[in-house]
Amino acid sequence: MNMEETRQLIDKLFEQADLEDAQLESLIDGRTDEAASYLFEKARVRRNENYGNKVFLRGLIEFTNYCRNNCYYCGIRCGNTGCERYRLSTQQIAQCADQGYELGFRTFVLQGGEDPYYTDEMIAGIVRQLKEAHPDCAVTLSIGERTKETYRLWYEAGADRYLLRHETADKAHYEKLHPASMSFENRMRCLYDLKEIGFQTGAGMMLESPFQTTANIVKDLRFMQDLKPEMIGIGPFIPHKDTPFRDHEAGSAKLTLFMLGILRLMFPEALIPATTALGTVDGRGREKGIEAGANVVMPNLSPAGVREKYLLYDGKICTGDEAAVCIDCMKRRIASVGCEAVVARGDVKGYAGRKLSGKAMTDTRQVIMP
Ligand code: SAM
Ligand code: FES
Repeated sequence: MNMEETRQLIDKLFEQADLEDAQLESLIDGRTDEAASYLFEKARVRRNENYGNKVFLRGLIEFTNYCRNNCYYCGIRCGNTGCERYRLSTQQIAQCADQGYELGFRTFVLQGGEDPYYTDEMIAGIVRQLKEAHPDCAVTLSIGERTKETYRLWYEAGADRYLLRHETADKAHYEKLHPASMSFENRMRCLYDLKEIGFQTGAGMMLESPFQTTANIVKDLRFMQDLKPEMIGIGPFIPHKDTPFRDHEAGSAKLTLFMLGILRLMFPEALIPATTALGTVDGRGREKGIEAGANVVMPNLSPAGVREKYLLYDGKICTGDEAAVCIDCMKRRIASVGCEAVVARGDVKGYAGRKLSGKAMTDTRQVIMP
């Protein structure tokens, strides 16, 4: 495909937010630097129409690295006996959030392995406590697969959003990335349950994970067109030395960036982060992600002492810094590409009022971070 044909496809994607399967495949496979910069220009137009040049910050609290699952790619899988495990107490989580609030965060993301130590009620209690302490903040959970009843309990406790990457929308591919104890159907069921309950729901996939094909990626896009997630998180697969995938190659920043551009055109209103994994494979990955159409970053609020233990993959960045250092660094990076970090919950467009209550209902202002 020459540049003129590529340009026409990108224009069509810009106008219609969709292409045929074969066109998507040839756009992805035929990507060049020239095509990427045209795609990113269009992606920025769509992002700016919906969110301006604002980038939302999420304070990430990685509160446990215990996990009952054994995903082949993941550094904190239960089979990794070399991983030093930790859990944060309810009080430590509250302290992280308090510190984050002072720094200007208005969303807290509680992420962890699937750790049965935290009962459903404990998680509900933590959510309630965070919402009471900071009623103008959103709480996002990212703690894996649960029953619909549990998700509902957490939603009613006040959780606003839930991140659960589908990882791959192709069952055969899913089964190459996960042991037989894990089920593709259950992951899908969880995502549809989360949507139905009313969570702002995040799906997404690793790129260039072992055995992934371009046809798999197109299937991911089709699945997300059906699910309609409010948030889409993607990042390159990166090997971890103590996992079965240790010898597989890391994904490239280039494909993740190109897919960020495509996602922005296909899902113009989605909240799309420039992820830590992208910043790990490329020192300017997160800035480039914003230039490709992303509008969210998730600096780490976990206590510095535990960060190097939440190692999903080798070489993970930002494991040594204090939260205040991380946020200053992020703000500079965001400003360097002409965008602004804002103090705001950063809900998906059109969401305000759907699940806001009390003080939060009136507090939807966006303040540019100092
Ligand atoms: N347990 C929760 C879950 O399953 O959704 C949240 C934690 S899980 C570690 C968060 C995400 O990390 C996964 O959805 C996966 O996409 C990503 N991840 C895990 N291992 C990775 C690796 N080796 N390279 C890149 N991303 C990875
Ligand atoms: Fe559970 Fe990675 S295997 S978080």
